[in-house]
Amino acid sequence: MSLSRRIRLCPSILNANRDDLSHEILRVAPESDLLHLDVMDNIFVPNLTFSLNESRSIIESSPIPVDAHLMIINPDDDAYQYAKAGAKSVTFHLEASENPLRTISAIKDHGARASIAVKPATPFERLEPYLEHLDMVLVMTVEPGFGGQSFMSEMMPKVSEARTRIDAMGKDIWLQVDGGISVETIMVAAKAGADAFVAGSAVYKAQSPADMLRELKKLAVSASGLE
Ligand code: DX5
Ligand code: ZN
Repeated sequence: MSLSRRIRLCPSILNANRDDLSHEILRVAPESDLLHLDVMDNIFVPNLTFSLNESRSIIESSPIPVDAHLMIINPDDDAYQYAKAGAKSVTFHLEASENPLRTISAIKDHGARASIAVKPATPFERLEPYLEHLDMVLVMTVEPGFGGQSFMSEMMPKVSEARTRIDAMGKDIWLQVDGGISVETIMVAAKAGADAFVAGSAVYKAQSPADMLRELKKLAVSASGLE
């Protein structure tokens, strides 16, 4: 296990108040490692969120580094744009990519960490050929498309498998989970080996998003033994 492994919290602004995003981001910033930006094109998933231009302005104005999660078709053409715009991490979906290796390189060449996401039905083994080139793996714990869905605990064997493979590689590849993360579910995911946690509704529905993030972190730290 890499010594630099630690718990990272990545609040998603998908269900935050869009009319006042800068304030919504400030509410979570002090307790967040990365700001999770869900980009949806209404083709890869049945929902439309931030355009490239809107994403650029969020990335430029965010006080914390942005973790862009691209739920779009043709990421091979466009993923690098989010890196170029200044995102710290860019995640694209394996199911949408024809040339993952080229897309990983394009993201890295533009200065971002490269990551691949897999939907619930996609087995981890499909990611194996790319693992050594990645900075993060995202195991979806809901069907991508919407916030507020229930956590799929049946994804935990996939998270454990990813943890085993990443540890065997001895590289500091972050392992992220996204969907349904809350005080009820974060410990299960942390025990299975996740170390980066996206949380949308749990954070923004809380009276104090910052307190909720502190609580989530405490639970993940105690379940994982990491800091
Ligand atoms: C779903 C998105 C998630 C979403 C998570 O497709 O990728 O990032 O915002 O929302 P919650 O935490 O409410 O499941
Ligand atoms: Zn997401």
